[in-house]
Amino acid sequence: MPAASPILTPSRRWARRALLWVAATLAACGSGESGPNPATGAGAGALRLSATAALGEKIFHDPGLSASGRQACSSCHDPDAAHAPANALPVQPGGVLLDQQGGRQSPSIRYLDTNRAFRFADDGTPTGGFFWDGRAASLQQQAGEPFLNPREMANASKADVVARLSRAAYAADFRALYGDDALADVDGAFRRMTLALQQYQLEDRAFHAFTSKYDEFLRGRATLTERERRGLALFNDPARGNCAACHPSAPGSDGSLPLFTDFSYDALGVPRNAQLQQNADPGFFDLGLCARAPGDLAARTDLCGAFKVPSLRNVARRGSFFHNGRFATLKEALTFYVQRDTDPQKWYPVGADGRVVKFDDLPPVYRANVNASEAPYNRKPGDAPALSDSEVDDVIAFLHTLSDGYQP
Ligand code: HEC
Ligand code: HEC
Repeated sequence: MPAASPILTPSRRWARRALLWVAATLAACGSGESGPNPATGAGAGALRLSATAALGEKIFHDPGLSASGRQACSSCHDPDAAHAPANALPVQPGGVLLDQQGGRQSPSIRYLDTNRAFRFADDGTPTGGFFWDGRAASLQQQAGEPFLNPREMANASKADVVARLSRAAYAADFRALYGDDALADVDGAFRRMTLALQQYQLEDRAFHAFTSKYDEFLRGRATLTERERRGLALFNDPARGNCAACHPSAPGSDGSLPLFTDFSYDALGVPRNAQLQQNADPGFFDLGLCARAPGDLAARTDLCGAFKVPSLRNVARRGSFFHNGRFATLKEALTFYVQRDTDPQKWYPVGADGRVVKFDDLPPVYRANVNASEAPYNRKPGDAPALSDSEVDDVIAFLHTLSDGYQP
């Protein structure tokens, strides 16, 4: 890995995790601030949706806006499954006949309201943006893509989408809000639909509920079990899990609750997933950040293999993990983290020369981009993994405290 690589510079993570560690320790001592989140108002009284957001809610749940007539945003981002898929498939089906397999795992779309457009931070760290590769600058821009994606809602054009909208039962709501002719202007109507979807995700508290056991713990209203406490300590410890370096667990200095992502990017070397049809072609690779549309980062080959750090809130409710949905359980996903370098033969195939092909989901030329400099990936074959099997279970117990809807 080149020392100048902006995403993997150890000093950046060092500085950040030192801060995190101090904050996490303070919080664990009970001196962390609690109360309503200033960014979202979560924790304050119930919010009523504006007319725009209420329209967005109808659009979000309407399968009539897809070419199949059977797929809505909520099909892949189900409110009852923490706005992730309700099934355990590695990626979701879509298309006109719902027979096209998607290329990437469908993420939970909670806790994105404070995320911003993609940018390089002052120290060069790629940060922010929507999708696994940050290509959409806002929730509104993001919302325009699924309608037209041939492997998702598969409309032929914006005009097609707006025609479907004008046949919806709630088309009258749209006209009442934006005027009788609003559906005649295709671009304007499409822009308003996507704006309504954004507004719904920003206003509906379910998208940023902050009702997990861990939130209650930070507010001083719940106690973690022995096992959950051990898991949290391993999660934060820079020499062990080191998870908080990328999935921050401590409240912000303003009292805002942690999101368990810093919206940065990293290349983890997740093994290739043979369940994905696109991978039947041995020459196909999903390169993530460097290969995103519209090609603005094509020259940044040091970013090939990097994907956005997802929030770990509600992660225990997922049925597939990582951008390619390679793992089906948290146990596998975490064991991969800590044994990737100590036992690579467990995770990667053996090549013609009898050697293990580490990072086989990247072409050889980009394998050096994979993070191998910081815990838990800084081990080598024969070393003890950063976490033992029972410590992995401790971290999993902690991750279960990040699910919304905690009832004491
Ligand atoms: C067929 C399944 C499917 C449907 C339908 C779907 N999505 Fe998604 N969604 C995905 C996948 C897969 C990704 C990640 C794609 C990528 O990174 O390239 C994603 C990503 C997102 C993200 C970005 C998450 C992040 O962390 O940056 C948001 C927000 C989102 N979808 C909202 C929506 C909305 C709004 C709709 C309806 C207009 C919708 N989705 C319809 C599967 C789906
Ligand atoms: C150096 C940054 C970094 C560190 C350290 C790190 N992660 Fe991650 N994590 C990521 C990135 C980036 C992804 C997405 C990678 C991908 O899909 O290719 C991810 C994905 C995950 C996922 C999958 C989530 C999902 O929705 O698919 C889990 C679970 C996870 N991390 C848990 C952990 C735990 C537990 C630790 C500590 C043992 C940890 N991570 C340490 C960056 C990091």
